[in-house]
Amino acid sequence: MHQTTAAPAIVATGLRKRFGDVVALDGLDLTVPEGSVLGLLGPNGAGKTTAVSILTTLLEPDEGSATIAGADLRTQPGEVRRRIGLSGQFAAVDEVLTGRENLVMIGRLYRLGRTRSKQRAAELLERFDLSDAGDRPVKTYSGGMRRRLDLAGALVAEPPVLFLDEPTTGLDPRSRIELWGVIRELVSRGATLLLTTQYLEEADQLADDIVVIDHGRAIASGTADQLKAQVGGERIELVVADAARLDDAHQVLAAHATGDIEVQVPARALQAPIDGGVDVLTDVLQELRHRQIEISDVGIRRPTLDDVFLTLTGHVAEEPDDDAQRTDRAEVTA
Ligand SMILES: Nc1ncnc2c1ncn2[C@@H]1O[C@H](COP(=O)(O)OP(=O)(O)OP(=O)(O)O)[C@@H](O)[C@H]1O
Ligand SMILES: [Mg+2]
Repeated sequence: MHQTTAAPAIVATGLRKRFGDVVALDGLDLTVPEGSVLGLLGPNGAGKTTAVSILTTLLEPDEGSATIAGADLRTQPGEVRRRIGLSGQFAAVDEVLTGRENLVMIGRLYRLGRTRSKQRAAELLERFDLSDAGDRPVKTYSGGMRRRLDLAGALVAEPPVLFLDEPTTGLDPRSRIELWGVIRELVSRGATLLLTTQYLEEADQLADDIVVIDHGRAIASGTADQLKAQVGGERIELVVADAARLDDAHQVLAAHATGDIEVQVPARALQAPIDGGVDVLTDVLQELRHRQIEISDVGIRRPTLDDVFLTLTGHVAEEPDDDAQRTDRAEVTA
């Protein structure tokens, strides 16, 4: 989607930040070409918000440098602020004010003038499907409406570079998909985006490139497809009703599998890597029925952030004490 010839809109080099004993960022490098979307993917505590806070001038790095839309973070922080929009992890909207009042206030803070601020607020309420709710206090808004309003707030001054910190965390699936649509539209208008997320699927949906971080360091990067390929891509998982038919089911899967099939005899379960999603699943189900092989469970499993972590680091992401919880499960799934 993006032009590789364009100058990078965000370049960060060697960012480090400690909070007491905690190393939040441990030498992070990032490059985001103009007009593209970088997904910064990582579990709780990985350093995502710290990175966003530094790049948006809210926090000073201990070490490292960055340029945002051509402005140097250290020597031109004011310029950086004028060229960016930020939608933080927790929606920063005033509960007592209406949606419209929130946007007008932001316009005034950016010195847009009263008429222009009102005009901009109306445009953004319309664009984010908040026109009807625009004159209600924000405290009556749903979580999804708040996130949309917060995102609208980040766009008031039409900045060329946007930072969205976990824009959809806490939203229900429908609101999440709605917000993805809004974000896609922003990108199609030429904005450069750095978004953080805990969901591989979200990065997959929105990002041109993904950097996976853990303990403040990049542990992998590439496109969503490249990352998924590293963890083995999609798989069909099926459980046969009768253990005697395991071999028959294995034969059916073998015709579609793109790699080795894993068999768990006690669970009567088979797992096969595939390429082609639902189409392949449909074919497999038809053949199973044709051969009268009864199935008690079947599904497609797509790699999640947990799978990426397991494969890349050999431990699951959520464990508070990584070393104590280290397992060899990565070998099993590889
Ligand atoms: N102001 C602070 N004081 C002390 N420790 C902090 C502070 N901010 C962040 N940390 C620590 O730095 C590490 C990285 O935190 P950060 O908020 O950047 O993670 P995150 O990837 O945004 O996590 P989440 O997904 O939970 O939002 C964590 O261990 C966190 O506890
Ligand atoms: Mg965070």
